[in-house]
Amino acid sequence: MTVETLIIENEAALAGLAARLAPLLKRGDVLTLKGDLGAGKTAFARALIRTLAGESVDVPSPTFTLVQVYDFPSFSVYHFDLYRLEGKEIDILELGWDDARRDGVCLVEWPERLGALLPQDRLEIAINFHKSNETVREIALKPFGAWMARAAMERAAEKELS
Ligand SMILES: Nc1ncnc2c1ncn2[C@@H]1O[C@H](COP(=O)(O)OP(=O)(O)OP(=O)(O)O)[C@@H](O)[C@H]1O
Ligand SMILES: [Mg+2]
Repeated sequence: MTVETLIIENEAALAGLAARLAPLLKRGDVLTLKGDLGAGKTAFARALIRTLAGESVDVPSPTFTLVQVYDFPSFSVYHFDLYRLEGKEIDILELGWDDARRDGVCLVEWPERLGALLPQDRLEIAINFHKSNETVREIALKPFGAWMARAAMERAAEKELS
């Protein structure tokens, strides 16, 4: 499997990556956001949602609500933070997981909590601290299932442009 690893210097660069990904998204897509506590999973989701919605939209962390929903013309974005769930499928379903999968694009922080509900087709984004500097992050993009072909196409298109 091809894993793309990027060194991201600061939060603006992370937002740039989110802005590159946002136009590729379509209904049914799942992005899982993994990595260190406080590394920038919510910051990434916020930048992505703001690319779709405009800078002024408020994007709170779903730490306590567990899910926040944003409606756009072609899909809704469901931003989950499952940290506080104990991996109980029933709770995840009560949060509207089935609707989210059917109608939406899902951004999932702490996807480990999904257990058997973890979708096969997904782009995993791991954000971790980098020792060089407080604002530097190492990002690994790992496509699974149908995302493998999409990631390969994306790389080919980038090569053609460069
Ligand atoms: N390169 C960077 N990318 C992302 N966030 C950064 C970066 N540099 C500094 N930050 C800061 O790091 C913090 C990241 O917090 P954020 O809530 O996004 O983390 P998180 O991974 O969602 O945490 P949690 O595990 O608690 O959900 C923010 O305060 C942000 O301003
Ligand atoms: Mg978070």
